[in-house]
Formats: sequence, C-alpha cells, structure tokens
Amino acid sequence: MKLKDQYKVLEFLDFGDDRGNLVVIEGDGIDIPFSIKRVFYIYGSDEEVMRGQHANRITEFVMVNVCGTSKVRIDNGYESTVIELNKPRMGLYLSSMVWKDMYEFSSDSILLVMASMHYDSNEYIRNYDEFKKEIAIESEVQE
Ligand code: TYD
Repeated sequence: MKLKDQYKVLEFLDFGDDRGNLVVIEGDGIDIPFSIKRVFYIYGSDEEVMRGQHANRITEFVMVNVCGTSKVRIDNGYESTVIELNKPRMGLYLSSMVWKDMYEFSSDSILLVMASMHYDSNEYIRNYDEFKKEIAIESEVQE
C-alpha cells in the first residue's frame, strides 16, 4: 500500500461570522470517512516530547491541532512523511496500520484526536519491528 493512500490532509468548513469561528466535523463520510467512536486530546506536552510511537491494526484517526501546532511523522514501513498541524481547520486522516510519532508540540498545543474505534490496547502495535513484521505478512497475503 502506498503511503499517499494511507493519509489525507483535510480542510473543514468554517461557519464563522462576526461572533467568531465555528468549525464543524461530522462523521460517517460527511467530513471524515468514519463514524466517531472516541475522542481524546493531548495538551501540556513539552516541545521535546515524542508521543504516539505506535500503529493501530484496526483504528483510523483524524487529528486536529485546535490550538497551537505539532508535527506528526507517519510511516508505513516503507515510506514516511511529516505533516505539520498548524490550523484549527486542518485535519489529518490516518488509516490503520500506519506508524505515528507526534512531536514538537507548541506550548499552547491542544491536539484533538477522533478515532473510529473504542480503546483496545490489543490493537495497538508499540514495537516498530513487530509493526514491520505484520506489514510484511500483510503484503504477502495480498500478493
Ligand atoms: P498513549 O497511547 O501512550 O498515548 P499517545 O497517544 O501519546 O501514544 O496512552 C497513554 C495512556 O492512556 C495509556 O495507558 C493508554 C491510555 N489510553 C486510554 O485508556 N484510552 C485512550 O483512548 C488512549 C488514547 C489512551
């Protein structure tokens, strides 16, 4: 699978007016491809902190820096890229089986994450070698 098919930068609609901004994110294929089962947010991470460092066998995510900025490095075992999240209207969709590292959080960073599944530690791969192994098995099965 090509990395370009495993992530997508999204731009959400802003219904703002002179009272301020209002950004809407609807699931089920309206603004993001999945039905949202879980939301969490990360803030108060120092600039030198590295978070994530895992892949998910099943869950898809959309990340939004609703305040401040951070970087997300995504890696499918063969290719990698870095996306900077720096606008409240900008989303990053990530498919399953993508390794992700989040880092360089600004001091005001609030990173909102929407997930397609409830939390299940068993679907997290937290060892990069194990991730590579599972990717290799997956591509053998698909051949
Ligand atoms: P962790 O996966 O390390 O966060 P990060 O997104 O930075 O990689 O999660 C930290 C702890 O929080 C860990 O003990 C698991 C728990 N957790 C939940 O219980 N539910 C969740 O939805 C998430 C994301 C984490």
